[in-house]
Amino acid sequence: MYRTHNNGILNISNVSQKVKLCGWIQKSRDLGGMTFIDLRDRYGITQLVFNEQIDLELCNKARNMGREWVISIEGEVKERSNKNPNLKTGEIEIEVSYLHILKASKTPPFTIEDESDGGEELRMKYRFLDLRRNPVQENLKLRHRIGLETRKYLDQLSFMEIETPYLIKSTPEGARDFVVPSRMNPTEFYALPQSPQTFKQLLMVSGYDRYFQIVKCFRDEDLRADRQPEFTQIDCEMAFVEQEDVIQTFEGLIKHLFKTEKNISFNNSFPKISYSEAMHRFGSDKPDIRFGMELNYIKPLTNGAGFKVFDDAEEVIAIALKNCADYSRKKLDALTNWVKRPQIGAKGLIYVKCNEDGSFKSSVDKFYSQEYLRKWANECNAEDGDLILVLSGNKSTTQKQMNELRLKLGKDLNLFKENDYKPIWVVDFPLVEKDEESGALHAMHHPFTSPKKEDAHLLNDSPEKVRANAYDLAINGVEVGGGSIRIHDRELQEQLFTTLGFTKEEAEEQFGFLLNAFEYGAPPHGGIAFGFDRLCALMGNKDNIRDFIAFPKNNSGRDVMIDAPAKIDDNQLKELSIDTIG
Ligand code: AMO
Repeated sequence: MYRTHNNGILNISNVSQKVKLCGWIQKSRDLGGMTFIDLRDRYGITQLVFNEQIDLELCNKARNMGREWVISIEGEVKERSNKNPNLKTGEIEIEVSYLHILKASKTPPFTIEDESDGGEELRMKYRFLDLRRNPVQENLKLRHRIGLETRKYLDQLSFMEIETPYLIKSTPEGARDFVVPSRMNPTEFYALPQSPQTFKQLLMVSGYDRYFQIVKCFRDEDLRADRQPEFTQIDCEMAFVEQEDVIQTFEGLIKHLFKTEKNISFNNSFPKISYSEAMHRFGSDKPDIRFGMELNYIKPLTNGAGFKVFDDAEEVIAIALKNCADYSRKKLDALTNWVKRPQIGAKGLIYVKCNEDGSFKSSVDKFYSQEYLRKWANECNAEDGDLILVLSGNKSTTQKQMNELRLKLGKDLNLFKENDYKPIWVVDFPLVEKDEESGALHAMHHPFTSPKKEDAHLLNDSPEKVRANAYDLAINGVEVGGGSIRIHDRELQEQLFTTLGFTKEEAEEQFGFLLNAFEYGAPPHGGIAFGFDRLCALMGNKDNIRDFIAFPKNNSGRDVMIDAPAKIDDNQLKELSIDTIG
């Protein structure tokens, strides 16, 4: 037997017991005739002590070991004279009588400590070492618990976890597909699922009226802190439901997860906001409602002053920052430079200081009198001592830019606290949206989303006005999940494909299987999928989902540890009937 206990469990009640332990050497200290070693495994750290007086040879052997060596020991549990209250096992130590080196280790390229000296790239290359670090282990434990609680909760509500295939045909979720060539079917490709959307709908037709799956999804899209090319969803679908049934059921899941993981109770139902109201008030379809600083539309209050920038703009949007009128030139310049970065893309930033004496000082004083500025301040509910920031341009672009600025300021001004969670359902999304460049219509969620009954008559002539039975859950500005009530009627589904620009043949070729299934007793159904990685990051109070994935990709979609993607050899290419260029 290698071990009788793990390294996080022994305490004062075990004193004088003989134990066997295994683990990695976290650190070693030589103090005169004694050598102390911190032995680590994923359960904790136990202090080992080697006493020269008792066994010189053993003590010398211990002295020669380095960080991250793997050892097994036998010894007796002793009460420590110098207790460490910060350690679970801090009241005891092991007086070692037998030491076996299971494996020596090279010196690791960075310290395996909570605050490591290794940079991100290096830690990713040696992810197997990074995974030994406490904070990373805590993140993966949190992920494990959330997964487990999800399964328990949904099982108790009669949901069945059913696996769906990874080698499939494209599912349109708005990103590019990752594709896999088929050797047995030369020149043909599978697509990896962007989500199990069509399969979960088929399961409803098959009668599995409550389905879920914690499942990998694959999307070839630009990566950000909250996006990975392969990520995990808690994917769910229900039959015989309306929008409110789905919302209630999964609000229950989210409440359960917050209660069990964070001991946070939400006593009321999560608020709901329509897509159009969210865009208007926050400039975002995933509003962070932990703080105010809402958007104000002041274009009508800027007319007639000869300021070309505002006169030519479709919209002029302002926000008010409480008690910030004392912002220095330097701070305002920094904010201006921030909004002008290509990621935000604003042309400039106008400010108005609402001075304590009731006067105004702005960067557009040349054009706007105090009267004008007072009207802006009133519109923004700004008071003496506040600062108003203004952006202008095309309406939707300016809303997006203002959303970014608002989120940054919320963070900079500490307008929210850690562990303050504010969920909100966003409902009544448009069914389709127009691509500004090509003019083509796209499904805003995906093409299986049903239109609202009362808007269905607009489908042919004014599809952009049709609202969908679709809903997203946003928490603290993070889109945590999204779903919809689906179309379950062949004719309506075909009509929507036509609206989206599919020819009859294309629709049949790509989705014939689903259209066909709808003719064999398809029940009304709907569902939702949560971003599992995002949910973990949110509960773990981190921005980057990478921290909650054991083996994540970097921002260029690379796994720098295994060095993927990589070239494959010519024979393999030949077998797959693939000719590469370059
Ligand atoms: P959607 O595309 O909105 O819906 O995805 C659901 C949730 O998955 C998360 N998510 C991601 N997380 C990490 N990296 C990504 N690249 C990524 N993309 C999405 C988000 C998002 O809210 N089939 C539908 C669901 C349905 O209609 O039931 C779907 O996939 O948190």
